[in-house]
Amino acid sequence: MERKLTPQQVLQWYIEAGVDETIGDAAVDRFRTSPAAPAFPVPAPADWPTAAAGPSLPPAPSMPAPLTPSEGAVGEAYRAAAAATSVEALRRVLEGFDGCALKKTATNLVFGDGNPDADILFIGEAPGAEEDRRGIPFVGASGQLLDRMLASIGLDRSRFFISNTVFWRPPGNRNPTTGEMAICMPFVGRLIELVNPKILVAVGGPAASSLLAQNVSVSRLRGRWFPYSSPGLARPIEATVIYHPAFLLRSPAQKRAAWQDLIGIKRKLASL
Ligand code: URA
Repeated sequence: MERKLTPQQVLQWYIEAGVDETIGDAAVDRFRTSPAAPAFPVPAPADWPTAAAGPSLPPAPSMPAPLTPSEGAVGEAYRAAAAATSVEALRRVLEGFDGCALKKTATNLVFGDGNPDADILFIGEAPGAEEDRRGIPFVGASGQLLDRMLASIGLDRSRFFISNTVFWRPPGNRNPTTGEMAICMPFVGRLIELVNPKILVAVGGPAASSLLAQNVSVSRLRGRWFPYSSPGLARPIEATVIYHPAFLLRSPAQKRAAWQDLIGIKRKLASL
């Protein structure tokens, strides 16, 4: 027998299904109106950051030919990012950039936080709800854990800069798509060039695969160092990968490994 749901039950059903954002008043048939998102990988262009594969790592999987910097929205993003000559200028460029669809549903741009002259730069995955509300990366539960972890090796936000692979919150905290990451990647790459840190840390798997072109799990990448290079850098930057704090909140047993990685970062910083 058909059972009628009350409006409250329907809303509850939506929330449990992960729908926690209202994007528009009228339904949009996206199958009719929009072409599918381009199937291109992150990282995109051939001259974009590369990392030398360590001896025990499998080669990067073969992927479809990436877009070149001159094509479409990614090309526009490359040109806009390249024009910025300071971190603050890059923030302003991003404020005016409409090429990433995530901007439409986000409350705020979440550009970055900390010291743009720091020796160490952390790149996470994507802003969450609290970050979106405040326009600052890593201020929710996982960000607070990351702050405590970094404080244990003497680092606070006056001594590092932190950002993400995308600059707007994906609706409902879903993962950013490869297309969204590819659009933001030119800005992430330019941010790395402008901060020009001694150490670059990818926080979690998506940041690792987009920055280091290594599509293997964090457990295989953590504790290792990779040269990160890009055309605007005078010399390669030492890059590494750590577990994402959201993963550590779910898997506290991995905190021991995370602690070892932090010690490795502290040592590396002291040696450079
Ligand atoms: N997780 C991220 O990867 N980035 C943030 O800014 C917050 C949580």
